[in-house]
Amino acid sequence: MNLRTLDEVDLAGKRVLLRADLNVPMSDGVIQDDTRIQAVIPTIKAILDGGASLIIMTHFGRPKGQIVESLKTDPLADALSEVLNLSINKVDGCNEDFVKEMAQNLNPGEIMMLENTRFYPEEKKNDDAFSKDLAELADLYVNDAFGAAHRAHASTHGVAQHLPAYAGLLIEKEVNALSSVLESPKEPVCLIVGGAKIDTKIGVLERFLDIADYFLIGGALANTFLAAEGFDVGESLYQEDKITVAQNFLLSAESKRELVYLPLDVVVADEISSDAAALDVKPEGVELGMKILDLGALTIETFKKSIAEAGTIIWNGPMGLYEFPPFEAGTKEIVEAIAQSDANSIVGGGDSIDALKKYGYSEKDFGHISTGGGAMLEFLEGKELPALTMLQA
Ligand code: 3PG
Repeated sequence: MNLRTLDEVDLAGKRVLLRADLNVPMSDGVIQDDTRIQAVIPTIKAILDGGASLIIMTHFGRPKGQIVESLKTDPLADALSEVLNLSINKVDGCNEDFVKEMAQNLNPGEIMMLENTRFYPEEKKNDDAFSKDLAELADLYVNDAFGAAHRAHASTHGVAQHLPAYAGLLIEKEVNALSSVLESPKEPVCLIVGGAKIDTKIGVLERFLDIADYFLIGGALANTFLAAEGFDVGESLYQEDKITVAQNFLLSAESKRELVYLPLDVVVADEISSDAAALDVKPEGVELGMKILDLGALTIETFKKSIAEAGTIIWNGPMGLYEFPPFEAGTKEIVEAIAQSDANSIVGGGDSIDALKKYGYSEKDFGHISTGGGAMLEFLEGKELPALTMLQA
């Protein structure tokens, strides 16, 4: 993928409209994980160092085209300002005349931050008039919102039709890291998938039938696969209406002689709590009223062996309900095994990043941590990401 990049442009004296993905997890007004904030800093610095002024925009949560107080971008502007040690003028709008006027008066080195783009129903509709309004704020558009690259919205797609558009350094880094896995992965390739839903993962699983040497499946996703194999999963979370999808994948994998590892044993409990009595049982031992909440010890050992042998590891989605101590061993030990392996490891998805941080790991322990959840999956699936299309040379 050949992208138009920042080094091709003379930034001096320009006003740059930067689309970031600052959609960070927040609880009671406190940012729980600032990975996405840190990830856009190099691009912000490059733009300012180039002598430009900066207008930053992002979506935050899913406010459904309305103003939601708790989803205003003020805390994001504050967090960015703190990391950069620069002041950021947060404005309460995106396309209003007063915003345009303020943008026009920006001096090189000054930063302004817009309100949540999703407060405007036009954003998700990729409305052309709204896109034009956004474009009027600046001379150039830089997109660094890899996490939202699979969305064809006004701020990720439409606006790029009205301004010279370039990829930021984060998008460049993400595309290079993920492309290397698709184009020239070091073998054997191990795809580890967990989390809850099969819908968002099945595309990658199918695409990787031609790339991966083995698949390790955990999380509630594995429950759907176990049900597809005929096991009774009791009260476990699974997708009954997707059993055929799982069965078809297993059949395709078998016909291609691909190895798919499902849990050989599972941790079950009849309640989800930090002091639940957890039992390690074989899938056939899951009884009515029990919930599968983690990988069992034997499965963890098997998965770890495969991880140790891999040349490339791609991991998305936790192996169990790791938020609760009785059900964290699967995720914790898989994170440890990936961090310790010499393979080129790619990790993505909010929960996976949360888990690796929880267990004391950071970017340096992995080949690449993707800031994209859905975007990473769709990229690996080979789908065209609308925002990236607009940045192609
Ligand atoms: C994400 O968190 O995956 C991105 O910011 C995209 O958010 P969305 O799924 O609400 O479009």
